Amino acid sequence: MTDVTRHLDGRTLILLSNREPYEHLAGVEGVHVRQPPGGLVSALDPTMRRTSGTWVAWGSGSADRETADEVGRLGVPPFEPAYTLRRVWLDESDIAGYYLGFANSALWPLCHLLIQHFEFHREHWECYQSINSRFATAVYEESLRATGTPQVWVQDYHFALVPAELRRLAPDIFIHHFWHIPFPPPDMLRLLPMGVPEKLLRGLLGNDLIEFHTERYTHNFLNCVREFLPDVQVRGELRRVSVDGRSVALGAFPISIDVDAFERLALTEESDARAAALRQRFTRGGRALGVSVDRLDYTKGIPERLRALDRLWYESPELRGRFTMIIVATPSRTELIPYQTLESDVLTSVREINERYGTSEWEPIVLVHENVHAELLAAIYRAADLCLVSSLQDGMNLVAKEFVAAQVDEHGVLVLSRFTGAAEEIEQAVLINPFNVAGFADGIRAALEMPADERRRRMRAMRAQLHRSTIFDWLESILARCADLMDGCCSDPDVERRRPPAVIADAAEQDAVPDVPDRPQWGDARP
Ligand code: ADP
Ligand code: F6P
Repeated sequence: MTDVTRHLDGRTLILLSNREPYEHLAGVEGVHVRQPPGGLVSALDPTMRRTSGTWVAWGSGSADRETADEVGRLGVPPFEPAYTLRRVWLDESDIAGYYLGFANSALWPLCHLLIQHFEFHREHWECYQSINSRFATAVYEESLRATGTPQVWVQDYHFALVPAELRRLAPDIFIHHFWHIPFPPPDMLRLLPMGVPEKLLRGLLGNDLIEFHTERYTHNFLNCVREFLPDVQVRGELRRVSVDGRSVALGAFPISIDVDAFERLALTEESDARAAALRQRFTRGGRALGVSVDRLDYTKGIPERLRALDRLWYESPELRGRFTMIIVATPSRTELIPYQTLESDVLTSVREINERYGTSEWEPIVLVHENVHAELLAAIYRAADLCLVSSLQDGMNLVAKEFVAAQVDEHGVLVLSRFTGAAEEIEQAVLINPFNVAGFADGIRAALEMPADERRRRMRAMRAQLHRSTIFDWLESILARCADLMDGCCSDPDVERRRPPAVIADAAEQDAVPDVPDRPQWGDARP
């Protein structure tokens, strides 16, 4: 087992994210705890369990206050504490301005290139700034309590301003930042009022290291700095930026999952029984079962997926009754209108498709419209013959990796949008373009018709690749890079050159954003 703590070398990790890893909720049967859905929590909870330290986050659960001490601290996981959670309290107007407002109505759509959902309100931006400063103070307080030298790890787009603010409070602290979603090209940030992109970028440059999923996002960040901060020196070939006499390093670190844990979940007796029951119900007599799992978010391409399925059953009547889709779609950010509209559109389309093609014996789409616990998810992934991931843009997409990890019987096919970070990494998936409905339907058909030996060969290769890059390898490579930077061994450009990033870009290449590897996509014109 990888020893991820060795690179911490006695330092205390203080992690900051908006979403907390454990949320206490008041229900009719008393208080219960749940893990909120989302890639960030799924990836970071297993790593914090190994490194210990403190996780600072918004206390969003209705029973969060009564389950923490007077400062908002508690040991988690609640059943077997391994690290400290420090909850920060936000009121309704904070949530409306900072989280629902600037983070999720401005930055989220811009970073995902979906500008039809972009909204800017000056009050939201003001609120974002003040909440970032509040969280920077909470992290600073935790750093003062740390027993070892603190190392701060900020997560995501909710906290672009925290690094610079924290550096003001504690100039010598080591700060790094993982950006979990795509980083957009300059044209997207230009939609914000003048001064806002500059402030966001300067906030991020308070870090010592900024981590993205892919080279493409690193490249976009460098191009944004070049465009909005002309006084800052960008050394693209070194993946470095020099600002205020400091050097900021950048790198691509594709996130992953706890592969062994997911595989174990798929192999429990209960999962065995559940998967067998699902196969008995949906796949007897050569029938096929598909699955998809997402938060109900407009970035996930759920309407596009439903259009492709509709087209598939329309064009291929022989598949009616022979291919069933389980769509697990959990409500998300339901206070926002685009999410409400999406939810009602999805419910309507599912009902229409089921009415159009369903019979008294067969329902084409089984919709699971709720949060599902990980063991049940693992059993569904295991039972499925294919998994559809159709994001319009997605930083990585961990569902794709969970499906591969849970496919212990190696019969499933991964149908994957080329606009996910995962598509730049996972070979042997069937790549699709969700905007091309006919091509998407062809991709599903190709997956359904794929011979058993080819499915097995592809799945085996994907599983081997996934086992070589787990969440612990990801964590280790980030912590190792931090340790190198702290030791100063990378401050000399010659030393840096001996540790080259995977793709070299220099100023002359600044507009050439790396493309997704040229693998066949179903439905695209081939030369
Ligand atoms: P995002 O971070 O945008 O939500 P990812 O695909 O990277 O997207 O991660 C989603 C995570 O949330 C996965 O770990 C997935 O298992 C989990 N998840 C998504 N939908 C559900 C659901 N309905 N029930 C339980 N977990 C879910
Ligand atoms: O992975 C991106 C992300 O925005 C995380 O930061 C977040 O926890 C997850 O998606 C789910 O979104 P939310 O926390 O808004 O429910």
